[in-house]
Amino acid sequence: MRLLVVGGAGYIGSVVTARLLAEGHQVVVLDDLSTGHEDAVPEGAEFRLGSIADRKALASLLSGGVDAVLHFAALSLVGESMAQPELYWGNNVGGTLSLLTSMREAGVRRLVFSSSAAVYGEPDSNPIPEDAPTRPTSPYGNSKLAADLLIGDEARAHGLGAVSLRYFNVAGAALGRGERHNPETHLIPRVLEVAAGRAEAALVFGTDYPTLDGTAIRDYIHVDDLAQAHLLALAATGGAPGRHLVYNLGSGAGFSVLEVIGAARDVTGRPIPIRHQPRRPGDPAVLVASSQRIAAELGWVARRPAMAGMVADAWEFLLARTGG
Ligand code: UFG
Repeated sequence: MRLLVVGGAGYIGSVVTARLLAEGHQVVVLDDLSTGHEDAVPEGAEFRLGSIADRKALASLLSGGVDAVLHFAALSLVGESMAQPELYWGNNVGGTLSLLTSMREAGVRRLVFSSSAAVYGEPDSNPIPEDAPTRPTSPYGNSKLAADLLIGDEARAHGLGAVSLRYFNVAGAALGRGERHNPETHLIPRVLEVAAGRAEAALVFGTDYPTLDGTAIRDYIHVDDLAQAHLLALAATGGAPGRHLVYNLGSGAGFSVLEVIGAARDVTGRPIPIRHQPRRPGDPAVLVASSQRIAAELGWVARRPAMAGMVADAWEFLLARTGG
């Protein structure tokens, strides 16, 4: 297929692009490089610098015979969204509306969208199924939920075949691509910076959560397992005109912040001093996905659920990038 990947210069978008190319698809990447890196765009993909808000650029890209779109282009910092919600509504919701409109005008009727566990907010119980109440606790979560609702309406009214993948905590590296955000807010890369001697201590945000060791629990999914889910989702959009399928994606197990740091010590063989900090505002205690629906309907399984493997891949990526 000929595919448009918006946000294909980012962490997840670039890994998925590399997997799509390996499967024999033709890929055009559109990215404004606001958070992505041009050198992350895999060789073999055509790169266009631009924004999904630019309807003219989208029209010209989509008129070239695109079969489906994968949409990763979004802002994703919860804290930033609290301070500047307008950025999140503009980029994440406005950008998605612009993309949907351009796709409709060009007759492109298949979409895979990067949604988030943030749409659920603080859940009543774990693991979280797709029919759990959606009560986001941040403008970021609101923007992802609004985009999901937009896509559902577009599917019902105009025959779009769409899949929203609600990611939990994505981790690891694959195909030479990994996390390099600036600023980096995610636990695993931050802890590995300490192991690499580039930061003094790992900060543990909250030690009084109602969990066994008092630290927050998350469900980490290997980025390559996530890429595999995108391939399955893409295939599913072909059989779903007029339908919007929604799937949660995690490995189904929770790891506490201290367990992640322990895994990082084991993998790197380096001491990682920690510093206790207050809770980070808006962080739920426990978020674990039920991925039963995507397993049952699309046959997806987490092949790399081990924390040690995710940390090892992220560590290898960091060492390769920083020259050891
Ligand atoms: N944490 C620390 N120290 C750090 C960084 C994080 O203790 O230096 C803790 C956080 O407080 C949290 C856990 O580690 O309890 C995981 O934090 P991350 O920042 O790695 O990830 P989040 O769970 O906050 O967020 C991720 C995505 C969001 C998405 C959310 C959905 O980054 O985009 O999952 O659950 F909304």
